[in-house]
Amino acid sequence: MNIREYFRQKRDERLMQKFSSSRLDEFIRKYSKPMEVLFTYYECALMEVETKFKVLDQEYSLIHDRNPIESIKTRLKTFDSVIEKVGRYGVPLTLKSIEENINDIAGVRVICSFPEDIYTLAECLLEQDDVTLIQKKDYIQNPKPSGYRSLHLIISVPIFLEHTKRDMKVEVQFRTIAMDFWASLEHNLRYKRDIPEELSAELADELLECANISSSLDLRMQNIRKRLEEDTSEMDDMIESAQWL
Ligand code: GTP
Ligand code: MG
Repeated sequence: MNIREYFRQKRDERLMQKFSSSRLDEFIRKYSKPMEVLFTYYECALMEVETKFKVLDQEYSLIHDRNPIESIKTRLKTFDSVIEKVGRYGVPLTLKSIEENINDIAGVRVICSFPEDIYTLAECLLEQDDVTLIQKKDYIQNPKPSGYRSLHLIISVPIFLEHTKRDMKVEVQFRTIAMDFWASLEHNLRYKRDIPEELSAELADELLECANISSSLDLRMQNIRKRLEEDTSEMDDMIESAQWL
């Protein structure tokens, strides 16, 4: 479906709450095609970043004999949620403003086994000379009051087009499996309507406790892995020195 059709369909729904139909009409007339092009560029940026992580994962497994990445998910924001965010942020409804102000049109979620893998991967990504860090939010060191943990980076990466290079913004969220599991459950509660206030508060408390337990479990399991690795490398050293005898 093209953007023009999409907006027409959506016009009577959520979008109408923020923008008058004449403003949306004008936007559709002016920007349908350029918006489609812009979204394609974001899709290309997603492919670039996903490939970077796949390369890092492969290389890491060659050296350390395990994969730090459990899975990679990519998503492009829907047109209506971009427009909804423009309304929420109170910024102009133009293509330039969308590109400048909405940082998470392209999103990559990297799910790791252990918290330390998150920082290793983030560091490796940011060391690459075509990646520029725009913003970093460390909700692992500083969890949200809800208990939410994740490392968020907004980066800019170039995509190479027929004759030009274009820098695109991508939001990267790093989580452990446990952090991701928690965030999905909490997301359900957050967006579920018609929950009595008392139950909602009770579940929020319960979720906060789960987040803390889950975080300490992540650290304990990371510690087990480290001790196993130390033990294995001691054993390797012993075998190696025995071979010299
Ligand atoms: P928004 O996208 O408007 O929220 O922008 P922001 O600048 O507040 O970004 P932030 O880095 O805080 O969060 C961006 C994304 O992280 C959200 O769209 C969610 O995917 C995720 N996120 C942030 N906080 C929470 C939370 O408390 N619970 C869950 N489940 N997800 C969260
Ligand atoms: Mg937010």
